[in-house]
Order: sequence, then C-alpha cells, then structure tokens
Amino acid sequence: MAFRKQLFDNNRRWAARMKQADPEFFAKLVKQQAPDFLWIGCSDSRVPANEIVGLMPGELFVHRNVANVVIHTDLNCLSVLQYAVEVLGVEHIMVCGHYGCGGVATAMENKELGLIDNWLRTIKDVYHQNRAIIEEIDDKEQRLNLLCELNVAQQVANVTHTTIVQNAWKRGRALSVHGFIYDIHDGLLRDLGFSITGPDQIGEIYRIDA
Ligand code: CO
Repeated sequence: MAFRKQLFDNNRRWAARMKQADPEFFAKLVKQQAPDFLWIGCSDSRVPANEIVGLMPGELFVHRNVANVVIHTDLNCLSVLQYAVEVLGVEHIMVCGHYGCGGVATAMENKELGLIDNWLRTIKDVYHQNRAIIEEIDDKEQRLNLLCELNVAQQVANVTHTTIVQNAWKRGRALSVHGFIYDIHDGLLRDLGFSITGPDQIGEIYRIDA
C-alpha cells in the first residue's frame, strides 16, 4: 500500500502548490474548461502531454492511446475529436508521436503479442506502403524512427479525413491539424511540417462534398 500513500501525498502537495501560486486556480477550473488545443499522443509514460508543452490543467484536451493512432471506427478517439472540435471549439489538433515508440516497434516485427496486434495493424499498413524508403535504411533505430514519423503523418491525414474535421471546415472554422514528434533522448518536440488547414490539402477520394 506504500504506493498509495506516495501518490496521495504527492497529490496533496501538488494541490497545495497550485493553490499557493493562484488561490483561485481550482475555482476557475471548476467554472469551465476552454482549451485551445487537442493533443492526440501515445500512452507511453515517458511522453506526458501537458508537461512537454508546458500547459496547465485546463489548457490541453488530451487523447492518448498506444502509438497515437486515429482509426476511423474507434468510437473513443472519434468522440474525443468531435467533442473537442464541436463543443470545446479547439482550433489546433496535434498528433504527437515519439521516437523509439514501442507500439511502432512492435508493428515492425512479426511476433504475436495478443489483442494489441490488431490495434497496431494499421501501422503495418503504413510500413507496407512505405517499405521501399524504410528498407533503404540499414540502421534499425533510424528505420523505427522513420516509421514513427510516417505514422504521425498518416494519423494527421486520418484526422482530416473524418466528417468531424471536414464539416468544421465547411462551416468556415479555422482548424489546423499538426504532426509533432517527441524525442525522449533530449525532451525536445519537433514539428514535422505536416500541418493541414483545409480540404484542398487532402486526397480527393477522402473529401466530402459541400
Ligand atoms: Co509510443
């Protein structure tokens, strides 16, 4: 039970610190959450969303899953996306991957791990579509890191293919979807430059008529 005491002690100290810095902090949070950003990241414990980008509670709406994937039939992710865009009105969606991602690494192998294999299959598709450029690289870590980047690019595209994002654009909303990647080696975040801001930047087959 020692872990419970540690966690609750930590929590008490954290709440006291927050209140000391701003006595109204929790009172303001209770009234509303108005984040400007949606973060879709990996569940990896080394990639904590708020800490990395220095945002406080209330400033970032977060969805995390293994290997930061956006699957068209995932009701959980789609619900987060719909709520963030249509109710909270976020203007920026960030898909954030990270180098050395265990989920992406597993997708590059041929082992059977169980249920998770089905979740990661979509990353095998990304590998298969890009195998020519991936297999040109000899270094195993660099190969993995390239697939981590390509996975982010694919998930950025998947976000923009949803009716949620496209309907927001149709309504004239300014909504951008960005691809970031985090490096655990130095704690630095990089912008991969995949930002998509309108339907003209997505494949024609995915576009929904106005
Ligand atoms: Co990961």
